Amino acid sequence: MPGLPMLAPETKENRVTTLVIGARGSVGRHVLDQLSGAGEPVRASVRNPASAALPAGVPVVAADLAAPETLPAALAGVRQVFLYATASGTAAFAEAARTAGVEHVVLLSSGSVLLPSARGNAVAEHHRDVERILETSGLRWTPIRPLVLANNALGWASSIRDAGVVRLPHPEAATAPIHERDIAAVAVAALRDPGREGVSDLLTGGALISQRRQVDVLAEATGQPIRVEELTPAQAQEHFERFGPPEIAKSIVEFIAAAARGESPKTDTAQRVLGREPLTFAQWAAEHAGEFA
Ligand SMILES: NC(=O)c1ccc[n+]([C@@H]2O[C@H](COP(=O)([O-])OP(=O)(O)OC[C@H]3O[C@@H](n4cnc5c(N)ncnc54)[C@H](OP(=O)(O)O)[C@@H]3O)[C@@H](O)[C@H]2O)c1
Repeated sequence: MPGLPMLAPETKENRVTTLVIGARGSVGRHVLDQLSGAGEPVRASVRNPASAALPAGVPVVAADLAAPETLPAALAGVRQVFLYATASGTAAFAEAARTAGVEHVVLLSSGSVLLPSARGNAVAEHHRDVERILETSGLRWTPIRPLVLANNALGWASSIRDAGVVRLPHPEAATAPIHERDIAAVAVAALRDPGREGVSDLLTGGALISQRRQVDVLAEATGQPIRVEELTPAQAQEHFERFGPPEIAKSIVEFIAAAARGESPKTDTAQRVLGREPLTFAQWAAEHAGEFA
């Protein structure tokens, strides 16, 4: 009939449920694998599809949150989105998602927004800003709030490979790092059951472990001795400024100092949501040992 749009019949191939934005990311990749492993229709987005290296059979689209014109095509037919908290582009994303009829967004945020020290902490403020955009967007959204990612240890990889050393402040500072696969599993629980309670609670691994002990665990996993060289807070500030702006470096140094005072919490969120013990740092180290050799 003239004037009526032709709608393709819904088939298994075009019934896209979830768009994983940042599907090459360490958490995003596990979200993609876990959803597709559960038989859920998924679409992956990356900024540069040429370098995607994603599993065969998963539809891949180009989408850049900093380039909103890329979003409508990526979001067409999508009901849910897994989203990274990027510095810019979340407002444009929210508008594009509303226009596309997206029903639910699961945001990888940060547990730092829930800590008493959140105010004035640059990492927490960044994530809180992104959360606020989604809060006021009219979209249904669920934040996932891990506190410390186990894969922060990858920041030690080059000095371990080059000199068998890790340089850090407060070696005895203990946190409860969480494996990226467990973060993804909590995000997938939220995606598969949008009303699921508890998924936005402060998310940590199952055990407090000092930085020095993490280094020892890496040495065991790689079979190589690894030394620790302690940095003063001023040296640590300079060290972290190599990887990001001074205010982010400052918030990391302050976070480690707080952990050294015993202020980094451990929660049972992962255990409650996943119904099993979270993966340990030793499991993470065994899986990633090749990246330190
Ligand atoms: N480090 C911690 O202890 C900690 C604690 C709490 C929360 N977090 C959160 O966890 C995140 C890190 O997770 P991760 O290890 O999985 O990160 P990751 O491996 O570095 O991956 C980041 C992903 O974000 C995507 N991305 C970045 N900018 C984008 C843009 N403009 N448009 C579209 N996609 C974009 C990247 O896409 P491409 O593949 O296209 O490059 C990449 O896939 C942090 O950013 C932070 O928000 C971290």
